[in-house]
Amino acid sequence: MSEAIINKIKQLKEKHNAVILAHNYVAPELQDIADVLGDSLQLSIEASKLGAPVIVFCGVSFMAETAKILSPESKVLLPVRSAGCPMADMATAEAVAEFRRTHPEHVLVAYVNSTAAVKAEVDICCTSANAEKIVASIPADKKIMFLPDRNLGRNVAKTLNREMDFWPGYCPIHNAITVQDVEAIKNENPGMEFLVHPECTPEVVALADKAMSTGGMLKYIRESDKNGFIVGTECGIMHRLQIENPTKTIIPFKPTPTCVDMKKIGLADVLACLESLEDNAQSVATPFEVVLDEELMDKARKPIERMLAFK
Ligand code: 13P
Ligand code: SF4
Repeated sequence: MSEAIINKIKQLKEKHNAVILAHNYVAPELQDIADVLGDSLQLSIEASKLGAPVIVFCGVSFMAETAKILSPESKVLLPVRSAGCPMADMATAEAVAEFRRTHPEHVLVAYVNSTAAVKAEVDICCTSANAEKIVASIPADKKIMFLPDRNLGRNVAKTLNREMDFWPGYCPIHNAITVQDVEAIKNENPGMEFLVHPECTPEVVALADKAMSTGGMLKYIRESDKNGFIVGTECGIMHRLQIENPTKTIIPFKPTPTCVDMKKIGLADVLACLESLEDNAQSVATPFEVVLDEELMDKARKPIERMLAFK
């Protein structure tokens, strides 16, 4: 059954010159058919370079919006439109604009896990892979508001020994990783390295050997000569980790961190969104298409491009 779906996806992909971008957290069967699999930064860079007529984005809405902003000529399709990020929704554009109005002296740094409308209100974006570099580039005498992830913000502030203000947002999945559960899994697996995503609380990050983006974890484990790892992030990353490191012992965190939004898309949804291209006139947006106002995209592109200028 899934083989038939995969074959149809391949046919339609070729017919429409479509590329499939997928985040490291999505279901294994989507990771397997993706043309590009990566973390938020890697996917943003690819989206800016691709120039493909159709991009099918397997991930959540802020990622598909970023792809659209960076590749405005492409049709960007998100196979399940309700796949969102609860943390991104914790900062509304209205509230961010109000902060800007009442705190004109602050530099606003937005984690890419934010809506396009929020990005249009800020000075610069960052991902978990480059947050330290971006914040470090801001002159020391400037005040900073880091949004929407208070955990990533606090972790960066601690590493850089820099005072900042934090928006009260958080990722419900990473924020739910507790110190008690970390102590339990470390005690059960002595000698294993413990890696976490910097969306975890500073208390949890303090117990980790390393805090990294999903792309950072994949690279680190691939290149490490160590053999045992506990992975403190969303469970979708386990699929690629196991394929790339067949001889290493890699275990997911317990209780298993699972982002329901990242799991909303299945193969059948990808097929349906490619099929929608068949019966839609070129000029008509399919129900899967990410459509953003041109002016908003122009505003939101600036802070993303400022981020991408950092290599
Ligand atoms: P990465 O950029 O590390 O892939 O993280 C994205 C994300 O949503 C983490 O929850
Ligand atoms: Fe958002 Fe957290 Fe899901 Fe990432 S894991 S998409 S930050 S809710």
